[in-house]
Amino acid sequence: MTSQILRDARKYEMEMERKIAGEHRPVFHLSSRVGWMNDPNGFSFYKGEYHMFYQYHPYSPFWGPMHWGHAVSRDLLHWEHLPAALAPDMEYDRDGCFSGSAVVLPDGRHLLMYTGVSKEVQPDGSTKEVQTQCLAVGDGMDYEKYVGNPVLDKAALPEGGSKYDFRDPKLWRKQDGSYLCVTGNCTAAHDGQILLYSSPDGFRWKYEKILAANHERFGKMWECPDFFALDGKQVLITSPQDMVPQGFEYHNGNGTLCLIGSYDEASNTFVEESNQSIDYGIDFYAPQTVLAPDGRRIMIGWMQNWDTCNLHAPEIRSWFGQMSLPRELSVQNGRLFQRPVRELEAMRGQEVKYENVAFTDIIKLKGIQGRKIDMELTIRPEDEQNVYRKFAVRFAQDDKYQTSVSFRPYESIIKVDRKHSGSRRAIIHQRRCLVRDDNGSGNGRIKIRIILDNYSAEVFVNDGEYVLSATFYTDPSADGISFFADGRVVMDVVKYELA
Ligand code: FRU
Repeated sequence: MTSQILRDARKYEMEMERKIAGEHRPVFHLSSRVGWMNDPNGFSFYKGEYHMFYQYHPYSPFWGPMHWGHAVSRDLLHWEHLPAALAPDMEYDRDGCFSGSAVVLPDGRHLLMYTGVSKEVQPDGSTKEVQTQCLAVGDGMDYEKYVGNPVLDKAALPEGGSKYDFRDPKLWRKQDGSYLCVTGNCTAAHDGQILLYSSPDGFRWKYEKILAANHERFGKMWECPDFFALDGKQVLITSPQDMVPQGFEYHNGNGTLCLIGSYDEASNTFVEESNQSIDYGIDFYAPQTVLAPDGRRIMIGWMQNWDTCNLHAPEIRSWFGQMSLPRELSVQNGRLFQRPVRELEAMRGQEVKYENVAFTDIIKLKGIQGRKIDMELTIRPEDEQNVYRKFAVRFAQDDKYQTSVSFRPYESIIKVDRKHSGSRRAIIHQRRCLVRDDNGSGNGRIKIRIILDNYSAEVFVNDGEYVLSATFYTDPSADGISFFADGRVVMDVVKYELA
């Protein structure tokens, strides 16, 4: 039975979609059907298609009572919107259906696990949101909330665990047919921890243990965990709130954290070996992964930043929020690598290619422009004994605007900069990332692949060892590209239009 609240949302999004049909949007990044989008939810492969749900407030381009939006795709790039899947329509989720995940049950049904939010009045009259974990079962279109909801509440918390910060379940099915799930939580001292739960059937859940704890290292509350095996290692990803930087890792604010280590399944013991940021740009949060049928681990994040998402470009009124590119993950030498999904190659149109372009100062190259492009730059110094001081590529450029990526080999720092991208606010416009030197970046050798899709740039450095993502909302007619060198650079460029 569909509730009136869900029926209203479905009617509204259909009507609005027609009205805003001509609006500019990203082309191959999923954006909200109408209104607001945040975290990716329920990323799964079901009945021959990838399903992506998302935190959704259809009625305005700002965060509000959370619904789950829904879209499907066969190639992770061409998305088709489906009717909203969940609405805040029950006692236990009346103030929001927060983030969660999905699995396919052995009987072919699609099981969603999400956080139900309901406000509780405090002794001083203020309210606080109580968070519990809930289920909904469906067929890829319509979902029925489980009669036994909530399936995890404060009774399933470890001592001191907060019932107000208990959210974002990510569940998966084990080889033996039973289920595990991780959730974000925090201690009485507001320190992040990841909790592990088990279930024989996906419906009856039991607390197991604290899988990982922050110990005041990386921000405060840990949101949106995911936990999976990859290339002989175990990976825990989470999105900590309120981070402070550590050197060039972990920018201020809500960021992303990847812990790589080992895992003993019998005792559910995760031993950390290394940690890193997942994305070094400005806009990336709350990523979630799916295991593709061919064994690839693919990740999509929300390509926005909580501290700037109330500052919309005036031109974009009816929708806000987009997902990142789907990224194929691997672990190499103890680090997480990310590459754009290979499906993107099928979208490549005309190729424009230059080799051994030696230059200094500013150049433009015929045929190198565009706002929906896949462009790879291979950079080296002309003279190994006299390495250039700075290289930059400027894109989304016209007389007034530009966004840029620059690299300084002496510092081994790559930077994304969008301060000339139309912003009128005193917010973060640049982010820098220290590039490890093993492959010679100090000698001025670097590979930079840039994917543009109207309102975003995702920069993959040295075959995905570092990624910097940033959104910008200048008019897509600003599509110029130019290159700059302080010193002498030699560059290969290959660029494809994406359509
Ligand atoms: C992360 C988050 C989640 C929560 C959701 C609410 O961006 O805060 O923890 O489930 O957003 O929309």
